[in-house]
Amino acid sequence: MNSLKRVIIFGATSAIAEQTARQLVAQGASLYCVGRNRDKLMALLEDLKVRASDHQRIEGAVADLTDSIQHAALIEAAEHLLGGIDSILIAHGTLPDQKACQENFANTRQEIENNALSVISLLTLLANRFELQRHGVIAVITSVAGDRGRQSNYVYGAAKGMVTLFLQGLRARLSKVNVDVVTIKPGFVDTPMTIGFDKSGPLWVKPERIAKGIINAMQSGKGEVYLPWFWWGIMLIIKNIPETIFKKLSI
Ligand SMILES: NC(=O)c1ccc[n+]([C@@H]2O[C@H](COP(=O)([O-])OP(=O)(O)OC[C@H]3O[C@@H](n4cnc5c(N)ncnc54)[C@H](OP(=O)(O)O)[C@@H]3O)[C@@H](O)[C@H]2O)c1
Repeated sequence: MNSLKRVIIFGATSAIAEQTARQLVAQGASLYCVGRNRDKLMALLEDLKVRASDHQRIEGAVADLTDSIQHAALIEAAEHLLGGIDSILIAHGTLPDQKACQENFANTRQEIENNALSVISLLTLLANRFELQRHGVIAVITSVAGDRGRQSNYVYGAAKGMVTLFLQGLRARLSKVNVDVVTIKPGFVDTPMTIGFDKSGPLWVKPERIAKGIINAMQSGKGEVYLPWFWWGIMLIIKNIPETIFKKLSI
C-alpha cells in the first residue's frame, strides 16, 4: 500500500482535484497544492486548513503550469515544506474548442502545450527524483478521450493520448525502482470543464466519486484505471469498432 501522507497536487483547483484533496486531508495527508487562479487557490487552502489537524501541513503556490521553467522550483518548495514527497497527482487540463483548433493551429498548439507538454515536463523532473528516492506514486489524470481519436474532440484526445503513452513507458521504467505510475482515465464528470453539456444521462458522475477512485488507485498502485470502472467496457467496445464503421459515426 502506497503512503499518501505528503502529496503534491498540480492543478489543485480543479473540481476533481479539490475533492481528492479534501478526501486526502480527511485521511491525514499534508498537501502542497499548485493552482493557476490565486483566488480559487487561496479559498481551497483555507478550506483544507479548516479540515486538517494541527499535525498536517497545507501549503500551496500559484503557477501557470505551461511555464515549465517554474517546475523545478515548485517541486523543491513542496519537498522542503512537506519534509519529503510520497506521492504526486497531476490534474490540470483544459477542454479545447475543437472547431477553433481546426481553424487555427495556434489554438491546437496551446492545447497540446497545456494538456500534454506541461505534464510531460513535470513528469520528467518527478521521474528522476522518484527514481533516486526508490518509492512513491505518481498519478496523472488523462481521459478516456485519449483511447481513440474522435472527430468531435481529437485535439484533446491526442494530448491526453500522448500523456497516456508517455505514462506507459514511464511505468515500466520506474517499476524497477518500486515507484508506481498511475494513469487515471475518467469518463463524463460533472465539473466546470463540462459546463454546458447535457448531464442528464446515466454515465455522468460527481467529482467526489472520481476522487475516491483516484485515492484507491494511488494507494494500491494500479497501472491504468477507468473511472468509474464501467468505462473500461465502453472503451473496449469503442476501441474495437472497425475504422470503416468508426469514421461514419458522428461521435
Ligand atoms: N470533467 C470531465 O468530464 C473529465 C473527463 C476526463 C478527464 N478529465 C480531466 O480531469 C482533470 C480535472 O478536470 P476537471 O473536470 O476537474 O475540470 P476543472 O474543474 O475545469 O479543472 C481544470 C483545472 O485545471 C486548471 N488548469 C488548466 N490549465 C492550467 C495551467 N496551465 N496551470 C495550472 N492550472 C491549470 C484550471 O485552473 P483555472 O481555474 O485557473 O482555469 C482548473 O482548476 C483534467 O485534466 C481533465 O482533462 C475531466
